[in-house]
Amino acid sequence: MSNGDDEVLITKQKLDREKDAAIAIKIASELTDEHEIVSEELIRTHELKMETINLSHWYGDKQVLSGISLPMFKNRVTAIIGASGCGKSTFLRDLNRMNDLISSARIAGQVLLDDQDIYEKNVDLNQLRKRIGMVFQKANPFAMSIENNIAYGPYVHGINEKEFPRIIEGCLRKAVLWTEVKDRLGDTALSLSGGQQQRLCIARALSVEPEVILFDEPCSALDPHATAKIEDLITKLKEEYTVVIVTHNMQQAARVSDYTAFFNLGELIEFNRTKKIFSSPERKMTEEYISGRFG
Ligand SMILES: Nc1ncnc2c1ncn2[C@@H]1O[C@H](COP(=O)(O)OP(=O)(O)OP(=O)(O)O)[C@@H](O)[C@H]1O
Ligand SMILES: [Mg+2]
Repeated sequence: MSNGDDEVLITKQKLDREKDAAIAIKIASELTDEHEIVSEELIRTHELKMETINLSHWYGDKQVLSGISLPMFKNRVTAIIGASGCGKSTFLRDLNRMNDLISSARIAGQVLLDDQDIYEKNVDLNQLRKRIGMVFQKANPFAMSIENNIAYGPYVHGINEKEFPRIIEGCLRKAVLWTEVKDRLGDTALSLSGGQQQRLCIARALSVEPEVILFDEPCSALDPHATAKIEDLITKLKEEYTVVIVTHNMQQAARVSDYTAFFNLGELIEFNRTKKIFSSPERKMTEEYISGRFG
């Protein structure tokens, strides 16, 4: 590609960002602001499901998160936004110790789930990941039947097989996939469309009765129609679960989240009610980001 093509592409991306930002600000401005903005008092009195305290993260010598203290409220959706490489996925993976699998990864600080530090020595990782499920950017169903994708987790956790049909139907219903697949439960999951595969991954995450669900850009590979279905689903899920979602799409953050955390270069720049972040952020950098001027 010539330099001229590069410039056209960069200008187009910038315009797209600004358009996304303008619509996001409009969506957020129409949110009903039934809750007070975040304050020490609110954090003390509202039910916290998870909380990071001064969380820092390194890969080898490279520090990618610096002293992040973030509350995540029960039955609420918290969105994490910020430019590529600012540490969103690293932060999300620290919330259920997925980064333990990376040998160079090291953390300092605390990650509390119901007031218990998940990095304490005696924590059972299988049990932890049962309580905190995760859905990734690219749908990753197992290469097995639709029903077995859901039954796998309960099987591993020793649930009686008689329960499987009830669990399979229940999870597929919650993931709004049941009517589309109920007559083909034995088909391979790989025969589903991208959007259906992502809803199957959500159903799979629900199968072990988690308390928190982490989503890392769950819609970035989906078309607008499939995206809308997942967003509706996330909004429903918060009635039962606590949700944390990383998204590049500011409209999505404005549509689905109650609280938004803006990260930059591994730091938490601002955290507040989503409406407040998008309508009157306190920091200039947040304002520049949400208006699409960088990122
Ligand atoms: N396994 C790893 N080893 C070394 N460095 C890593 C590893 N994973 C991520 N990083 C680095 O850590 C920083 C944060 O990465 P991370 O994936 O958390 O960012 P992100 O905000 O999710 O970005 P994106 O929006 O592009 O997904 C980046 O500089 C990245 O290159
Ligand atoms: Mg990421």
